[in-house]
Amino acid sequence: MANTFLKLKPTIFFTILLLSSNFIPIIKSHDQFSRKLTKTEMGLKREKLSHLHFYFHDIVSGRNPTAVRVAGAATTNSSATGFGFMVMIDDPLTLGPHMGSKIVGRAQGIYGSADLTNVGLLMAMNFVFTEGKFNGSTLSVLGRNAVFSAVREMPIVGGSGVFRFGRGYAEARTHEFNLKTGDAVVEYNVYVFHY
Ligand SMILES: *[C@@H]1O[C@H](CO)[C@@H](O)[C@H](O)[C@H]1NC(C)=O
Ligand SMILES: *[C@@H]1O[C@H](CO)[C@@H](O)[C@H](O)[C@H]1NC(C)=O
Repeated sequence: MANTFLKLKPTIFFTILLLSSNFIPIIKSHDQFSRKLTKTEMGLKREKLSHLHFYFHDIVSGRNPTAVRVAGAATTNSSATGFGFMVMIDDPLTLGPHMGSKIVGRAQGIYGSADLTNVGLLMAMNFVFTEGKFNGSTLSVLGRNAVFSAVREMPIVGGSGVFRFGRGYAEARTHEFNLKTGDAVVEYNVYVFHY
């Protein structure tokens, strides 16, 4: 009997500990660094896949450029690719290919020449949407853009608003490039998983 009681003792001790009113609040206290959550607690239902289609207007010329060079390539020996130049952008995104077309958002961020031998831009930008249910939501793009390739693929590394937990990729195709002014219109197809 004494032996059985001794064996039970730890179990009883832990049961009392678990039932004690102080135990749970300690676990959930605000000074706890991390905790596990379920998708339902976060209000996350089924993951959706969305396809967005729009045109990106990179305007470097004229009185109101939306793409401005903020750093140049090294002047001592500029490479054929302009390695090192950086451009800050706040480019309009439109439904159709023409500038007068409905604006659905902006592309805000930076691109720069990151390849010494072949033209390859590092794109680090956010698509900031202003249309419909996407108004106020963003998608973040971080990728390589070989602008002279027919199709460029860039990862969507995250998002905000309706695009929380977003991931996917963007496909860019040059629709129009003005050799005189340097202005470009680029067609974007974005495929993104989100909740
Ligand atoms: C300067 O750049 C060219 C390519 O544009 C390259 O061929 C050459 O070797 C470079 N010179 C130096 C000193 O780095
Ligand atoms: C988008 O949201 C802003 C800020 O809440 C609001 O001013 C604007 O009218 C909205 N636009 C559309 C098209 O819903």
